[in-house]
Amino acid sequence: MDNRPIGVFDSGLGGLTAVKELRTILPNEQIVYFGDTGRVPYGTRSVKTIEKYAAQDIRFLSSMDIKLVIAACGTVSSVAPHVGMAIQLPFIGVVDPASKAAAAATKTGRVGVIGTTATIKSKAFDKALHTLNPDIQVFSRECPLFVPLVESGWFRKDDEIAKLTARRYLIPLREEKIDTLILGCTHFPLLWDVIHEVMGPEVALINTGCEAAHTAAALLREKDALGERPAPGACRFFVSDSIDGFQRLAGILLGSEESLDVRQVDIDSTAC
Ligand code: DGL
Repeated sequence: MDNRPIGVFDSGLGGLTAVKELRTILPNEQIVYFGDTGRVPYGTRSVKTIEKYAAQDIRFLSSMDIKLVIAACGTVSSVAPHVGMAIQLPFIGVVDPASKAAAAATKTGRVGVIGTTATIKSKAFDKALHTLNPDIQVFSRECPLFVPLVESGWFRKDDEIAKLTARRYLIPLREEKIDTLILGCTHFPLLWDVIHEVMGPEVALINTGCEAAHTAAALLREKDALGERPAPGACRFFVSDSIDGFQRLAGILLGSEESLDVRQVDIDSTAC
């Protein structure tokens, strides 16, 4: 047993898709979340900058006496996994868990991947899918505008801008007749209904944050490192910009009745 918290980070709200699943499947766990809201988006930045941000985020979480780090960020997991692998703690990204789920789900071997510009450019999902099954055909597309839509709270299924953006990005993928689509950025599951409407019911959507949460649960079980005390609501949230917008949207996304414990930190002071 290990009652130390699980550390989870992302550039903003997207990683909450992993937190939501962790709270459901591991109710005894405490979670420390860092959302780098002052520097979102990551996906349009250079590899060097993403590596630097990832190192600072991990350094900050590691200072909170955690037992595991989840990079609930497709961009960091694709572009800078080596930064996480270099630390002493167990590290989980989203690429392998989501690729395994997609390889298991596809029947036709035609798999789509959507993500940020940096993620798609890295071809990390293509490589992971081909390692699992060299016959899988991968069709990828960058969808950078999905991130600011989510950060602005424009993700509901009747949101006209979200619907138009999704059609513009996704119709070409639909035409490739994929049967599985990896939402390779953890912000994207918040647009689930909008994406599902464009892709149709025959395309299985893979939620990267959710898959990473299941991989973390399996690892903690295997290491006999699960928390033993019920910890309902035992989540602390840290952001690098003002707490207001994050607190409101995070509360909605996590379906939390009580106000979330959110604090602002100066992430630059955790210099590497
Ligand atoms: N949620 C992140 C990802 O999975 C961040 C996207 C961004 O900051 O551009 O890629």
